[in-house]
Amino acid sequence: MSRILSGIRPTGDLHLGNYLGAIQQWLELQQEHEVFYMVADLHAITTPYDPKQLPQLVKNTVIDYLAAGLDPKKATIFIQSHIPAHSELMWLLNTITPIGELQRMVQFKEKSEQHKDYQNAGILNYPIMQAADILMYKPFAVPVGEDQAQHVELSRDLAKKFNRLFGQVFPEPKVIHTSGKRIMDLINPEQKMSKSLSGGIGLNDSAAIVEAKLKKAVTSNEPRIIREAMHAAKYSDKASQLESKIDPNQKKQFHGVRNLFTILSALGSKVEISKWQAAAEAGEMKFSEFKPALATVIADHFAPFRERRAKLLKDSGYIKEVIAAGNKKAAKVAEATLLEVQQKMGLR
Ligand code: TRP
Repeated sequence: MSRILSGIRPTGDLHLGNYLGAIQQWLELQQEHEVFYMVADLHAITTPYDPKQLPQLVKNTVIDYLAAGLDPKKATIFIQSHIPAHSELMWLLNTITPIGELQRMVQFKEKSEQHKDYQNAGILNYPIMQAADILMYKPFAVPVGEDQAQHVELSRDLAKKFNRLFGQVFPEPKVIHTSGKRIMDLINPEQKMSKSLSGGIGLNDSAAIVEAKLKKAVTSNEPRIIREAMHAAKYSDKASQLESKIDPNQKKQFHGVRNLFTILSALGSKVEISKWQAAAEAGEMKFSEFKPALATVIADHFAPFRERRAKLLKDSGYIKEVIAAGNKKAAKVAEATLLEVQQKMGLR
């Protein structure tokens, strides 16, 4: 069975962007692959955070994984910092990583721009840690959102370089794209939905909250923009071509509408999807009706999630067991790889 690895930073409750961008695919992959899903707490501490809150954030991420449907019998769920071999492999890979490669990473540029008063080597070296996370488990593929593809690329480069310099250890991991499902912020639809922006929908949000948030979502009242945006969501291969024809001052509206259609087509029924696509096609889109309908689709879809999450929150013993079992399985694989690397590098 081929192996898969991925992870998310524990910076807050999971939102719709995490779900449609990653978790939904993780659920499918656990059926047919040997999957390792980690909570990347060592990555979370590269940007400002509260040490008192971190343990709860880590635990909640595990709870969210389970509530979303990850099955600990199939998936190895573990905490990055609990496996010290990650940090050690990171150091070793550090010695073969060109600094220039790190400096050109988009996330590095964005994060150091965003946190001007919190610039640290951890933000620069972040992708080496991620390469260690990945290569440690020798996965054949890594399912991530678009923004992480560059980091997976680096881990491929490091695998190649390591094998060339020290002898074959690492397979080159592929990126599995979750393309077409890039979910944007509702209020700033030109930015990816994130925990730090206000226009995000939490998986745990009640129906009333989802409806209130959607009410504020950016849309358009121009039939042409609405139609093109709907087409961009429907035919993702033509999206950039459609987008290029949009007037710059209409882009925000275009992305807002497109985002809502992307969410609808990911979670709605066929009937519901074609109903609203037809309305947009005919120039008869009424957002005052569409938004509450979409809110219902979202809230209904995550009703089982909310129920399971509430139960899991009360069962700390079970969460601890899941983490302990996952850590144990992960450590076994990680330690074996680390030893192999140490031997090749002349350290053992
Ligand atoms: N950097 C990833 C993110 O920001 C999280 C992550 C850490 C990750 N280690 C990983 C993802 C290894 C895939 C594989 O979302």
